[in-house]
This record gives sequence, C-alpha cells and structure tokens, in this order.
Amino acid sequence: MNTCHLACVVGARPNFMKMAPLLRAFQRYPHVKTTLIHTGQHYDHNLSDVFFQELGMQRPDVNLEVGSGKHGSQTAQVLERLEAILEQGASDGAKFDRVLVVGDVNSTMAATLAAAKLGISVAHVEAGLRSFDRSMPEEINRLVTDSVADLLLVSEPAGIDNLQREGHSEGSMHLVGNVMIDTLVRLLPQARSRDTLRRYGLRPGQYGVVTLHRPANVDTPRTLSALLDVLVETSRALPLVFPIHPRTRRRIEDFGLAGKLDEGRLLVLLPLGYLDFLSLTSQAALIVTDSGGLQEESTALGIPCLTARPNTERPITVEEGTSTLVDSDPRQLRTHLHAVLAGTYKRGRCPALWDGHAAERIARIVATSNC
Ligand code: UD1
Repeated sequence: MNTCHLACVVGARPNFMKMAPLLRAFQRYPHVKTTLIHTGQHYDHNLSDVFFQELGMQRPDVNLEVGSGKHGSQTAQVLERLEAILEQGASDGAKFDRVLVVGDVNSTMAATLAAAKLGISVAHVEAGLRSFDRSMPEEINRLVTDSVADLLLVSEPAGIDNLQREGHSEGSMHLVGNVMIDTLVRLLPQARSRDTLRRYGLRPGQYGVVTLHRPANVDTPRTLSALLDVLVETSRALPLVFPIHPRTRRRIEDFGLAGKLDEGRLLVLLPLGYLDFLSLTSQAALIVTDSGGLQEESTALGIPCLTARPNTERPITVEEGTSTLVDSDPRQLRTHLHAVLAGTYKRGRCPALWDGHAAERIARIVATSNC
C-alpha cells in the first residue's frame, strides 16, 4: 500500500481526548504516517500540556502558537500558519494526503479551510452534529467544516440524518461511534484509583460537579449571576465542585460576582487535568454543565447531567442518555436537581458504538480508503 501522510490537527482542550485514541489506532497501520499539529488555541498548562501527559500523547510535531483572539483573527492566524506548514509537507518532504480534524472548535474549522484551499482531503471526526442554533460559534464551525470535508465520521445517528438532509453522498459518511468515549473507557480505571476525592474531602455520590464556559451563559451578567445563585443554593444541599474555565473566571471578576463563589458549599478549583476530572465526574451524584463533551461523558458514565443550554447538537444524550436540557433557567435547573436528589431522575443507557472502539473503526476506514 502507498504511504499515507496524515496531518492531524488539534487546538483546544476537547480536541485532545478525541485525537489521542486516533493516534494510537493509526499505529496499527505502518503505511499511515501521522504528523501532529497543535494550533496553540489553548496554551495554558492545565488546558493543554497536562492532557498530552495524561493521555500518553506524543508531543506535537508542530505548534502554530496562535493563542487567544477574536474569532476572525484566531481563525485567520490558523489559516495562514497552517497553510505554510501544509505546503511544506511532512518531515520526509512528502505531500500531505489528508488532514484529520476533530470536534467543532475554531481550530477545527480553520484547519479544514486551509486544507481544502490547498486541495487536500479532509476527514472530520464528530461530523454531522447540529444544534440548529447559529448564534453558537461551534455551529458555524460544524457547518463550514462538514461542507468541505470529504470523509465524515459520525458519532450518533442524528448526525447521519443531518448530513443526508444537507445532501452529502452516502459514501462520504460513516457512523463510527464516539472517540471521546474511547479515552474514557481506557482511562476510567486509572482515574477511579486516584486519590482525587480524598484530596478534596469528598465522598462518592455525595457531591456534584459543575462546568460553565459558553458565551450564552457566562458573557451576560444577569444570566451568569442567576446561574451562580442557583448553584450556591443547591450546594447547601449537595456540595458542588466547580473547576472554573479561565473565560468564566474572568467574567465573574469583570461582573463583580466573585463574592458569590464564597457562599454556600461551592468548591472552586482551577481547571483540572483529565484524570482528576474523570475521577470526580465518574463518582458524582450529578453534573451541571454547558459542555458538549461532558454531556456525552455523563451519558457514558450513567451520571445525571443537567445541561445548561436551550438546545443540543448531541440529541442522543437526552433521548437515550442521562442529560436534560434546562437552558439557563434557574427554575428548570432547580426542578431537576430536586428529582436527582430525591432519586426520581430518569436513568439512561449508553448509546450503541460508544464502546471504546470508535478510533479503531475510523483508523480502518482512513487507512483503507484512497488516502
Ligand atoms: C473553546 C471552544 C469551545 C470549547 C472550549 C473548551 C471555540 C469557538 N470555542 O472555547 O467550543 O468547548 O474551547 O474549553 O473554538 N484562555 C486562557 N488560556 C488558554 C486558552 C484560553 O486563559 O489556554 C482564555 C482567554 O482569555 C481566551 C478565552 O479563554 O480569550 C477563550 O478561549 P477560546 O479558545 O477562544 O475559547 P474557549 O472559551 O476556551
């Protein structure tokens, strides 16, 4: 078989858990040569480096160091810097045959555009997800990425329906399952054997975990303040661990809301590494989040998840899984919290193909396709 030169692009925290199992799976195909490119969208140790260490991922071959910025300028930096790398080719001077992107962050879309403009094929892992809410930056990224990618690797059946509706050819799309859950399945035993709970003075099933970082929840003082109020109130019944994303911390400070973090029984932490965070989520009584990845992880773990969003691009987490959409509405949040605490909250099941083997299926498709 001809050598296949694959440029694998990551940029932000949720990308790393998705790319790690793919890089491992490609090792079984000696004719596939991977080059790992980090755009540098996330650069803090605890949003980036710690994941490479804990996931056992190789260091990136290239770091574009784009850093933070407005959407347009961040996207433009990735486009410009990645274009130069792709034109240069792999370390042995060969042209890249394909660019592999995961998820829906700005780096995903920018890398896709850079490749497509150079006539390089793009494979998108986590294709087809749609929230139908174009006010979300990620929805624009998903639409643009899928419209020019030519290999669409899909995590749940709704993704196939969406791609069919948008006119993609049957041959371009494959239902492969969820690569993020591959990482979870592999590292769950290690995460659970850590002393994370003891370090934070927590007992299994007797605390909740909160993450919030979406602009719709944290960029408006009224919404953020109301959400913090309900979390403080809840924490009086159930302690809540809240590892704060840097964006959210900045907003809390800018809006003069920092005092609320000292009320109730909120345990406010810096962002955690993968293993400590999985240790906490897997033993929690509930999760409150606006993260797409955590909606999926809580479904895989069978932990109740109250999703602080009006919609989701991952409907299977609501239909089959443990997630309920509560918007940024304190009343809805309160109602479902009470159900969780009373033991009457719905039970979910883990979706088909979220079995720890999605990356193997993807590697087989990529390695045997006309790479
Ligand atoms: C990005 C993704 C989002 C994903 C999230 C996971 C987009 C549009 N958004 O959101 O889909 O769910 O990552 O975390 O791509 N910052 C730091 N350190 C860093 C990186 C960022 O402090 O290492 C701060 C900066 O102030 C920056 C802000 O966080 O301006 C936002 O970072 P950015 O990468 O633009 O978006 P996220 O909110 O992290």
